[in-house]
Amino acid sequence: MTDLPIEAIDYLTRQHRALEQLLGLVLPEEDPAQRKQLFDRAGDQLTVHLKAEEDIFYPAVKASRTEDILLESLEEHLSLKRLLADLLAMAPDEKTFEAKFKVLKEQTEHHHKEEEENLFPKVRKLMDDTVRQELGQKMAELQARLKRAGEPREAVVNETDSAAPLK
Ligand SMILES: [Fe+2]
Ligand SMILES: [Fe+2]
Repeated sequence: MTDLPIEAIDYLTRQHRALEQLLGLVLPEEDPAQRKQLFDRAGDQLTVHLKAEEDIFYPAVKASRTEDILLESLEEHLSLKRLLADLLAMAPDEKTFEAKFKVLKEQTEHHHKEEEENLFPKVRKLMDDTVRQELGQKMAELQARLKRAGEPREAVVNETDSAAPLK
C-alpha cells in the first residue's frame, strides 16, 4: 500500500498491463501445480479489478456520454466471469482448459483495449484530477479488503447469471 494518491485511470491501466503479463505466463508453464498457482493469482487479480470497476469506478463515471459503453463493459465482465468460473472448476492440464483459457485471455485483452480507447478518454474529460485520485484511493482500499478476505476469485462463481447492474 502506498500513501501517495493513486489516479484512477492510471491505476486501472497499470492493472491491465500487470494482468496481461500474468495471463501470458500461464500456458507456457507446463507443471500443472505451478500453472494452477499462476492461474489462481490471475483469477484473483481479475476479480478484484472487475469488482473495483463495478462497485466504484463505473458508478462514479456514469453519465449520458458513457452509459452505452458502461453497459457493454458490464456484459463483457459477465463473459469474463463465466469463463473464469468454468476454468476454476477444471484441471489446469486438461486440453479444454487451454482452449478456454485462450478465450479468457483474448477477451480480457479486448476488454482492456476498449476501456482504454473508448471509456478512459471520456472519463478524463468528465472528471478532474482530484476526483480521479479519490476514486483511485477508494478502489485500492476495496481491493486490499477483498484480498485480505482471501481468494477473491471464488466470488465469481456466484456472479455468472447476469451482468452486474449499472449503479
Ligand atoms: Fe472492465
Ligand atoms: Fe479494466
